[in-house]
Amino acid sequence: MVERAGRVEGKVAIVTGAGSTPGPGIGTGKATAVVLAREGASVLLADLYPERAEETQRMIEEEGGKAEVFAADVTRAADCAAMVRAAVDAFGTVDILVNNIGRAALGTVVDTDEDAWDQAMDINLRTAFLASKYAVPVMAGQGGGSIVNVSSISALRGDGTVAYSAAKGGLIAMTVDMAYSHGRQGIRVNAVAPGHITTPMVLSVSAPGARAEFMNTMRSEAGLLGTPGTGWDVAWAATFLASDEARWITGATLPVESGVLSVTPLMMASHLRGVPEPGE
Ligand SMILES: NC(=O)c1ccc[n+]([C@@H]2O[C@H](COP(=O)([O-])OP(=O)(O)OC[C@H]3O[C@@H](n4cnc5c(N)ncnc54)[C@H](O)[C@@H]3O)[C@@H](O)[C@H]2O)c1
Repeated sequence: MVERAGRVEGKVAIVTGAGSTPGPGIGTGKATAVVLAREGASVLLADLYPERAEETQRMIEEEGGKAEVFAADVTRAADCAAMVRAAVDAFGTVDILVNNIGRAALGTVVDTDEDAWDQAMDINLRTAFLASKYAVPVMAGQGGGSIVNVSSISALRGDGTVAYSAAKGGLIAMTVDMAYSHGRQGIRVNAVAPGHITTPMVLSVSAPGARAEFMNTMRSEAGLLGTPGTGWDVAWAATFLASDEARWITGATLPVESGVLSVTPLMMASHLRGVPEPGE
């Protein structure tokens, strides 16, 4: 059998938020770190909760991959500078940065208070800004690299999360600006926009039971394919964008959403109406 080289063979990657909220399933950062390692990258696993990243490291090492844990609050500049240094010290450079950290925040423009607004900006946008700020010079110094920002369909369609949507929209704006500013340094910058995927974080928001099952089914039925999406779907898309197979793609936002952005809500009504409400 011919051995195929991994798609990111020999590359060094940093994944921020490389742990996952505890629970069934897998988060996007954890899945992306695992897929990058499977495809040949050495991965620095940055997370606020190191025990979460250690779980990711265990998964990678069990498969024979290479990963190191780095405990960091990626909203802090000093931690981001140290995170990039740690990747260089451990693995020699930084080729790939996946800005994955984020958390949804419900609320309209009227009922979102200033603290909630600031928090959403810090977690979803500032983290990507600061991690990139310190990774880009290393990438530029070696002639290139690839950055993938994890945005959301909430940046593109209303869903009652004004601060989160604004931050995820900011991430798309940052993607095109960084792609422009650093293209001639060989740095590609792209985003993925996940849709209604099911991750442990999503499941943790509601207690398990009939209502949670109902919402899960609704998330699947809202898409053209009618099937559930997971952290792995985001990981495969992010790994493609990070790899040299995407060498002529920059400034793009790739939806990973079972086609929900390609249809009017009315067309999905019959599918959604067919899902029995809990208690029916
Ligand atoms: N789950 C969905 O339906 C969905 C949809 C669209 C977009 N997304 C995006 O996908 C990304 C990951 O979502 P998930 O469901 O896998 O979440 P998750 O909570 O399971 O994973 C995020 C990880 O980031 C870490 N983290 C949080 N703040 C941090 C900080 N300041 N510094 C370092 N680490 C920090 C957490 O400890 C956690 O391990 C987010 O950007 C989210 O907005 C998710």
